[in-house]
Amino acid sequence: MKHTFKGQSDSVQKSLLEQLQEKGIFIPADCGGIGRCGKCRVQFLSGAPEASDDDQEIFDQAQLDAGWRLACKAFPEGEYEIAWEQAEDEMEVATDFAAGADDAGADARVDDSGIEASDPVIAIDIGTTTLAASLVDRASGKVLDTKTSVNHQRSFGADVIARIQASVNGMRDELQDSIKKDLTGLVSNLGQDFSSVPVIISGNTTMEHLLLGLPCDTLGVAPYTPVDISLHQEDNMLILPGISTYVGADIVSGIIACGMDQSEEVSLLIDLGTNGEMAIGNKDRILVASTAAGPAFEGGNISCGVAGIPGAVSSVTVEKDGDDVSVSYQTIGNKPPVGLCGTGVMEVTYELVKTEIVDETGMMDEDYEDDGFPIAENVTFSDQDVREVQLAKSAIRAGAETLMEEFGVEYAGVAHLYIAGGFGQKINLEKAAGIGMLPEELLDRTKAVGNSSLAGAVMIAKDGALRERFAHVADYADEVSLTGNPTFNDLYMEYMMFGE
Ligand code: FES
Repeated sequence: MKHTFKGQSDSVQKSLLEQLQEKGIFIPADCGGIGRCGKCRVQFLSGAPEASDDDQEIFDQAQLDAGWRLACKAFPEGEYEIAWEQAEDEMEVATDFAAGADDAGADARVDDSGIEASDPVIAIDIGTTTLAASLVDRASGKVLDTKTSVNHQRSFGADVIARIQASVNGMRDELQDSIKKDLTGLVSNLGQDFSSVPVIISGNTTMEHLLLGLPCDTLGVAPYTPVDISLHQEDNMLILPGISTYVGADIVSGIIACGMDQSEEVSLLIDLGTNGEMAIGNKDRILVASTAAGPAFEGGNISCGVAGIPGAVSSVTVEKDGDDVSVSYQTIGNKPPVGLCGTGVMEVTYELVKTEIVDETGMMDEDYEDDGFPIAENVTFSDQDVREVQLAKSAIRAGAETLMEEFGVEYAGVAHLYIAGGFGQKINLEKAAGIGMLPEELLDRTKAVGNSSLAGAVMIAKDGALRERFAHVADYADEVSLTGNPTFNDLYMEYMMFGE
């Protein structure tokens, strides 16, 4: 969708991006405003400032002449008018949850039998990229409706590190206003008032801090201490508990939604998000960890990466016969291709490795070294993109295996591998194993469960007595630090490669 905005710049000290953030106007800014991601592009219809060095690198002369600039590097003076495309509002957001026949009753599916909520409670998952809210009728235990949206804090950066940075740099109020505005809109779409209806909040620790307006200064520096991760009531909101700064309430929700904390069997849970949080264990013991996988599988830090929006290339097949290379792909909504979303990124990597266009070390065939591998018009996959995937997949695999080793279990002893998250729900598990992100050995026991964070919040919305269970899991789960962990470091180097 095309947006326009007329403004008056009252400070040449502040970039256009900062000025828009202060006004609550959303423009994606994955890199947090350092001029690297190219996602904050706007077209000045009038009042265009001088093109910056970063603009010169990103845009060609015709685009610069037409007024295209990076909002984070533009310092307009006086009046201006800008236009930009915003497809993020149409992003696909996972809300379903299913852990299998033995799940612990965490059913987040909508019952559309037309019941009115007589005892409404709202369960909310605050993801770094997307938000999901379910209207639950406590009396009947039914989920009556679910709404989703993008987390507009994305205009302060794609990942939690960028958000922490923005908060520390004086944007704490703006970040809180942004999420409150989003949640107010979501809850109102469910026919309720965010300021008065009981709300259950499940999110990662940074997201919960930003919602509560807590200082994030200690989240980003060692020893990474959170201000408050306890289960507590804040006005009408029940804030679910986290385990540490990098393993939050969303994972506690996932552990409970998958029933890991009540099972004799040992299961592994991996949330394939930016922070690659994971947990292993059973009713007696749970270990958790997080690993900086980066946003590659959400389309972040990828040259032609986009979120799961209409037109995002989500599935790719590459055939190679001698020198002949052919590519076929599918896009979300069958729209013309606009970029690669997470599943597209994963699949193109698998296909390029399979056809040996990318070798075991991640080097791309020299034919594609300069301009990248072409997938569709204006959609390519570069050497650097392969590198981002290597870092992400290796961090996830090495993290999971380090947890297994710390727990003292081998593949044979893992009864289930649950893959959580929207990306996880859509990926081709065989291809994910094919690039080494997931272990082949567990494929027959691997299940993509969907939004387990929302499912956990729904469970407690249905049954308030589960509070104790959440508090107990947050308490008995122990975090394993992967930073400087020699097992993790060795595995991380090993899994950077493709192939066995
Ligand atoms: S290039 Fe402007 S936010 Fe990334």
